[in-house]
Amino acid sequence: MSSMQGRVVIVTGGFGALGSAVARKCSAAGATVAMLGRAPPSATLAAEFTGPHVLLSGVDLARLDDASKAIATVTARTARIDALINVAGGFRSETLEHGDVATWDLMFHMNLKTAVVASKAVLPYLLASGRGRIVNVGAGAAARAGAGMGAYTASKAGVERLTESLAAELGAHDITVNSILPGVIDTPQNRADMPDADVKRWVQPDAIADVVLFLVSDEARAVNGASVRVFGRG
Ligand SMILES: NC(=O)c1ccc[n+]([C@@H]2O[C@H](COP(=O)([O-])OP(=O)(O)OC[C@H]3O[C@@H](n4cnc5c(N)ncnc54)[C@H](OP(=O)(O)O)[C@@H]3O)[C@@H](O)[C@H]2O)c1
Repeated sequence: MSSMQGRVVIVTGGFGALGSAVARKCSAAGATVAMLGRAPPSATLAAEFTGPHVLLSGVDLARLDDASKAIATVTARTARIDALINVAGGFRSETLEHGDVATWDLMFHMNLKTAVVASKAVLPYLLASGRGRIVNVGAGAAARAGAGMGAYTASKAGVERLTESLAAELGAHDITVNSILPGVIDTPQNRADMPDADVKRWVQPDAIADVVLFLVSDEARAVNGASVRVFGRG
């Protein structure tokens, strides 16, 4: 795969489990990485991403004014944006009977609106350069909801529809928009939540990051509007 040297990649939710793996992969390929999130990064992550990399916390990506300000801060330092990777998101499981209607708003804000807003904030920069990559993180689980999974899967299905519509809207440019649909990821949170699970069936963040790196590369120029299942061997 060609080098990402000189390329600038924005990773939303970059301080999280998958986001940090994606950021590491892009950095290792030569890219300058800008990581955006709400809570601050861990001290370890902050120490790892010094130099040209940009780490911005306190950014609520469901708010266009927050996102636009953050993108302007990034471009003031990097002068360009080549790719946006929308990793920010979250998970809740609750039945409609026992759950809160507000959970549906929460899931739509965390999973779908963050991708919509970050994409809208970045779009003028990609259109000005005439080239770019957007990769959204959906979820394999969005194909069919089980009990308690309504709000989460509906919001992640929305991420796939956003991917398709934006890919079609940008079809005239060398700007591609694709989604990855992970299965259960091997994260510290999932290990804590599911102590009896067979973790060998889970997909590693680093393996997902390899697929994301391909999708932001020049070689993926013919892939547009796709949703790629990334389940590992599970
Ligand atoms: N873990 C899995 O098994 C799995 C499976 C399929 C898909 N996914 C998807 O993969 C992505 C990453 O998951 P993960 O396990 O790495 O989760 P994670 O560690 O919780 O990372 C998600 C990050 O998104 C950030 N975020 C959420 N809402 C935000 C907002 N409004 N503004 C700014 N940042 C926001 C969070 O920051 P704050 O904590 O500061 O809010 C967090 O750092 C998510 O989209 C998730 O839905 C995960």
